[in-house]
Amino acid sequence: MAEIIDGKALAAQLTERTAAEAAAFAARHGAAPGLAVVLVGEDPASEIYVRRKIAQCRKAGINSLEYRLPGATSQAELLGLIHQLNARADVHGILVQLPLPRHLDDAEVLDAIHPLKDVDGFHPVNVGRLSTGTGGLVPCTPLGVMMILDTVISDYRGLEAVVIGKSNIVGKPVSMLLLEREATVTVTHIETRDLHDITRKADIIVAAAGAPHLVKGYWVKPGAVVVDVGISRVALADGSTEIRGDCATQELGHARAVTPVPGGVGPMTIACLLANTVRAAELAEQAG
Ligand code: GUN
Repeated sequence: MAEIIDGKALAAQLTERTAAEAAAFAARHGAAPGLAVVLVGEDPASEIYVRRKIAQCRKAGINSLEYRLPGATSQAELLGLIHQLNARADVHGILVQLPLPRHLDDAEVLDAIHPLKDVDGFHPVNVGRLSTGTGGLVPCTPLGVMMILDTVISDYRGLEAVVIGKSNIVGKPVSMLLLEREATVTVTHIETRDLHDITRKADIIVAAAGAPHLVKGYWVKPGAVVVDVGISRVALADGSTEIRGDCATQELGHARAVTPVPGGVGPMTIACLLANTVRAAELAEQAG
């Protein structure tokens, strides 16, 4: 049977290390690393994610500052807040929860966050650094995906990796990280023809299409490692609902290892956000 990788346990280990680093930072500075979390409007999924992020900050000894802005907030008001947060010495990380309400311009908002405080790794400077392999803050979910893969793979050189999904948040950055490790990376997406023919050759599959149970048993080569980033709530015939990933995990017994949904990538994403916040605090420290 495939190993089921326990993302919750890995995340707990990472958060323990992050808490030790946060405590050491606080001992040097007399104040803990600070993360500002900005939520605009009332998207129910975003509310849940933000609540979890803030609860985990407490566990790691990170000071969280929560900004809940009404859905009608203007672009200028949001940019004004970001400029204030950029200037504050006690705020080391700034996270603006996406998606923003439709009248707001995501790209302009992300561009306004100081690159050294961009704990999501979405600022063009950090995107550029990732694509050139020159450091910078790396997006949390891709970082978590790599830490999960690292538990079963030590040498990526020449391995065939197939990424399903081309988002800026997961697909593109995780492709860059795999390429950096010298895997042979194929980036695919929902419009890719005969996707199963491509995934069947893969040693590593990262599924981030947001398409419930897209990846079937016959899509996966025996011994492959499969990381499932998708998380969708699906309505069932009896009127109930179920959380599903992008992979039909029950058909993947022939894989070497798979991540569950929930309890795989999700907890690692938040643990990586905390780790990035402490890293941003340390970067600020080095910058003086
Ligand atoms: N919305 C969905 N995923 C993310 C994420 O990783 N960061 C932010 N800021 N918003 C998101």
